[in-house]
Amino acid sequence: MQLFLAKMRPTMEPALTKRIVLGITGGIAAYKAAELARLLMKQGISVQVVMTEAATHFITPATLQALTGNPVLIDQWQNDKGMAHIHSSRVADAIVIAPATADFIAKLAHGLADDLLSTLCLARDCPLIVAPAMNKQMWSNTSTQRNVQRLLADGVTLLGPANGLQACGEEGMGRMLEAEALAQDIVAIFSTQELKGRKVLITAGPTYEAIDAVRGITNRSSGKMGYAIAQAAAEMGAEVTLVSGPTALTKPNGTQRIDVTSASEMFDAVKQHVATADIFIAVAAVADYRVARPNEHKIKKSDATLTLELTPNPDILAYVANLPSPPFCVGFAAESEKLREHANEKRKKKNLPLLAANLAQNAIGSDENELVLFDDAGEHELPRADKLTLAHALLRHATSLYLKGNAQ
Ligand code: CTP
Repeated sequence: MQLFLAKMRPTMEPALTKRIVLGITGGIAAYKAAELARLLMKQGISVQVVMTEAATHFITPATLQALTGNPVLIDQWQNDKGMAHIHSSRVADAIVIAPATADFIAKLAHGLADDLLSTLCLARDCPLIVAPAMNKQMWSNTSTQRNVQRLLADGVTLLGPANGLQACGEEGMGRMLEAEALAQDIVAIFSTQELKGRKVLITAGPTYEAIDAVRGITNRSSGKMGYAIAQAAAEMGAEVTLVSGPTALTKPNGTQRIDVTSASEMFDAVKQHVATADIFIAVAAVADYRVARPNEHKIKKSDATLTLELTPNPDILAYVANLPSPPFCVGFAAESEKLREHANEKRKKKNLPLLAANLAQNAIGSDENELVLFDDAGEHELPRADKLTLAHALLRHATSLYLKGNAQ
């Protein structure tokens, strides 16, 4: 058996000399973990599998041992090295949990450590990447969503889940990403220091245009997409400046945030930082108009009709895109209908190399979205996923166009 395993190990020099711990928990999607291990190893990543006891009911340790060439760890009380939970996490470049059940996500969110895999996650000093897989009802349950938000706030990277047919026969959100997509994302996380040394300027959130001392005009943008792009850009090694309208979100790790309120303030902040930016991504839902003469004091109620005079705000993105030597500009278009038609029009009008369009009703306030990218080559659909996954995909696309443009 040992001889056979030795023969199966890849002999080529790894392209990526990385080590991951692949944690498998007890869900039907565990069968996809075998393919994931194989694909990661093909990329030169060495894989140490750690399974929960429940996972062994879905896929055998022997399969994973044969594929990875490493003994599979399951039991925290039985290991030959001793302190496996500390040792395995110390030598890993990342821990990837695929599939991650609702139960395991709950454990992670609360810092529980009652088996080898959860103990190892708690003892780690490397990034944690989680690929959820569960029934759509379990995924949308308030407890799961609360736990997922906790993980995101703790800096855990979530890959998926996707929308689709589930093992139970239902259709919806909760399906684990396919092994190929997961492997691609994991490799991307490892090799994407593609934006190292580049400066990325991002606008996000709504703007607030004062009517008087206490009232104003704003919109329903949550800022989540812009913040996800800021986080993804920072993960890709960029120096990120995030100019943010009022939101309830926490600053993504490794970014510089400049808080603004009105479109004019956002414009000023962008003008201040644009000269050194390599890439500008305008995600903010900037108010198109502001009140011409906001009242210093609260306007008192009366029976007379109140007319507000509105004056157009500067178009920040159009200004940047039309500078003599602009950064690579990415615009967003939130449409409520005729997505393609309006998006193409906007891209041309503002002179943008890349525009990401979505349907406003799909995006606002939600943790998920789907995008269609428009560039000179045509359209590229990014299927429905959580906003961080989409942010990574969008940035990969933008970066490749940006680098191509710079190489010419
Ligand atoms: N944008 C900007 N400054 C503005 C308005 C919009 O930078 N004053 C940017 C947004 O951040 C986004 C894109 O432009 O990237 C949106 O384009 P826009 O044509 O302004 O979209 P809408 O405001 O939705 O236009 P419309 O109301 O005509 O659909």
